[in-house]
Amino acid sequence: MQTIRYGGDYNPEQWPEEVWHEDVRLMREAGVNLVSLGIFNWGLIEPAPGEYDWTGLDKVVDLLHGNGIGVDLGTPTAAPPSWLRRAHPEIRLVDFEGRAMAAGSRHGVCPSHPVYSDACASIVEQLAARYGTHPAVEMWHLHNEYGWANVQCYCEVSAAHFRRWLADRYGDVDALNEAWGTAFWGLTYRDFDQVEAPAIAPPGVNPALRLDWMRFSNDAHIANYKLQRDIIARYSQAPATTNFMVPNCKDMDYFRWAEHVDVVSNNHYLIAEREEHEIELAMSADLTRAVAGGPWMIMEHSTSAVNWQPRNIAKTPGELRRNSLSHVARGADGLMFFQWRASRAGSEKFHSAMLPHGGTDTQVWRDVVALGRDLGKIAGVVGADVHADVAVLWDWESWWALELEWRPSVELEFRERVEAYYGSLWKQHVTVDFAHPEADLGRYKAVIAPSSYLLTAAAAKNLQGYVEGGGHLLVSYFSGIVDEHDAVHPGAHASVLRATLGLWVEEFHPVHEGARLALTSLAPGSASGPVGRIWSEHVRLDGAEVLAAFADGPDAGRPAITRNRVGAGTAWYAATALDDATGLRELLAEVLDTAGVERPQGLPDGLEAVRRGPLSFLINHTGQDQHVPDLRGTDALTGAAYESGVPVPAGEVVILAHS
Ligand code: GAL
Repeated sequence: MQTIRYGGDYNPEQWPEEVWHEDVRLMREAGVNLVSLGIFNWGLIEPAPGEYDWTGLDKVVDLLHGNGIGVDLGTPTAAPPSWLRRAHPEIRLVDFEGRAMAAGSRHGVCPSHPVYSDACASIVEQLAARYGTHPAVEMWHLHNEYGWANVQCYCEVSAAHFRRWLADRYGDVDALNEAWGTAFWGLTYRDFDQVEAPAIAPPGVNPALRLDWMRFSNDAHIANYKLQRDIIARYSQAPATTNFMVPNCKDMDYFRWAEHVDVVSNNHYLIAEREEHEIELAMSADLTRAVAGGPWMIMEHSTSAVNWQPRNIAKTPGELRRNSLSHVARGADGLMFFQWRASRAGSEKFHSAMLPHGGTDTQVWRDVVALGRDLGKIAGVVGADVHADVAVLWDWESWWALELEWRPSVELEFRERVEAYYGSLWKQHVTVDFAHPEADLGRYKAVIAPSSYLLTAAAAKNLQGYVEGGGHLLVSYFSGIVDEHDAVHPGAHASVLRATLGLWVEEFHPVHEGARLALTSLAPGSASGPVGRIWSEHVRLDGAEVLAAFADGPDAGRPAITRNRVGAGTAWYAATALDDATGLRELLAEVLDTAGVERPQGLPDGLEAVRRGPLSFLINHTGQDQHVPDLRGTDALTGAAYESGVPVPAGEVVILAHS
C-alpha cells in the first residue's frame, strides 16, 4: 500500500442511482480512495437460486473505478438470502440452549452445514469469475466478522463435524479420554461417536470438552474462510482479508486466523461509556499489530456514535481525529469507517457515518474531509512498524479457559488483569507489543504476563529461557496453573513456573467482593504500601526474595510481591490484583528500570505519544493545552518548526516529522 487507504463500507444498493453520483463526488472531496462493497448484497445479486443480476454492482464498480476509487469487494456470505433460509431451514444456527435462530437478520446459520457451504462456494465463484480481474478490485473482503452472531452452532451437523475434528486431533478415543480427564464423573467415551456438542448441561460440562469445542468452532469459521479464499485465488491476484474484532471478540483466536489472511484488518468500536476508552482503543491497535506481525488496517470504526450500546454516546469534538490517528500511530495503514452514507432504513439507521443524515453541513462531515486531507500528508508512514521494548502476553486460549465454569473466584477475568497492566503502562507512556507466550521474546527488554492461567509446558519453557537469557519477566497471580487441556500441571500450583519465579503456591485464598488487602511497603521508608484486591494466596518461596508481604487478609505475613534472579535475568511475581494507583505503577517502574526500558520523561498525563517510523504522534486526550518538552521537529501537517518543545492544544493531535 503506497497511500493510507481511506474510506468505508459502501452500500449503494440502499439508494437510487442518482445518489451514487453524488456519493463519488463527495468521496473525492473527502479523499476517499477505497470502499468496501457488496458485503450484504447476496439477496440482490442472486435473487433466486442460480439466477444472477449484476446490473447494479457492475455499474457501481465501474463508477468507482472511473473516479479513481478502489474496491474492497465483499463476499456476501454473512447475509444468506431469504430464499436459501426458507428452502433449507436445516441450516439455521442452534444456540447453546438448543434454540434454532429465526430469519429476518444477517448471520444466523450453521458454519458447518454443507448446504450453506455449497451456497457460499457457488456465489463466491460467480463473484470471483466476474470481478476477479477488474482493475477496481484491490482487495477481497471475505464474509463479515466471522464468529460474530453465529460463533458456535450446537446443531447435529456441527456436532458431527466436531467429532471428525476430534478424530483428526486425537487419532484414537483413548487419547481423547486421557487429554480430557474423562475418568472424572465416569465420562469416558468408547467411540468418538459418543461425543456430543457441549450445549447446556447442568451443573456444568467437562471444561476440557468446552475448550476443544471453542477451538473447533474457531476452526469451523476458518474452514469457511479458506473455502472462499481458495476459490477467489483461482480468479484473482488481489489480496484477501476478513474483518477481525480485536480484542472485543473473545471467541476467535486471531493469532490462528492471521496465518490465513493476506492483510490483517480489524473492526474497532469504542465502548463509549467507559472512562478512558482511548486506552482500550490503543490496546486494540497494539494487539492487532501483534496479530498481523506488523502494519494492518482498520476496516471499520465509527465517525461518532454507534447504535448498539445501551447509551450510544456521540464522539466529543476532535475525538474522531484522535481515535483515527491513534490507530495510524499504532500501525494502521488503512482507516475505514462503517459506513459511508447513513442508512435511512433498517437496523442501523441511528449509526453514525462519514456522510451523516444531515449531509455536508455537519461537523462530522467537516472532520471526515479534514482527516482525509491530513492522511494524504503522512503517507510516508505506510509500511513502517512500531518499535517496542516491552511485550505483554496475550493468549486467546488462556482467556477461554480462565472464564469457564467453576473457577476459584468469579473475579478472575482475563481482560480485567490485562487491561490493568496495559493501562498502567499506557499511563506511563510505554509503547508495548503484545505477544503469544510461545513466541520468540528475545528482542524484548521486559515481558509482562498479566493473565497466563493456561500456560503450556512449551510456553513455560519459553519464559524460563527468556529469563535465563537475561530477560525481565513480571507474572501476575493464577498463572501457569493448567495445561492446554485445562488440567492442573503436575505438582504444586504454578509448578511449571517454579524455577523461573522461585516459588510455588500452596493454596488459593480469593477474597470477598470489594475487600482490600494492605501490603507492606515496596519502597523502604515509604509510608503506605500497595493495596491488593480480588486475590490472595499462600506463596511458598523456593529461591525468590520478598519485596512486599501481605499485611492483612488470609495470608498476612506471607509473600505478596517477589523477585527472583535467574542467570542474567529477573522474574517478579504479584500474588494479588494491583492497580495503577495502588502499587502497580511502582512495581512496573522497578521492572522497567531494571530492564533498562527508556520512557519519555516529562510528558503530561493523558498525552499519548507514539513513534512510528519517521513520525511521532502526540495525541492530547485532555481538555487542557499541553506542552511536550525536549522534542524538536517539523509538524508533518502544517510545516511549523518546533525548536524547543511541542505545543499540543486541548483535544488535538500533532504529528511530528523527525529529520
Ligand atoms: C459491525 C459490522 C457492520 C456494522 C457495524 C455497526 O460489527 O461489521 O456491518 O453492523 O458493526 O457498528
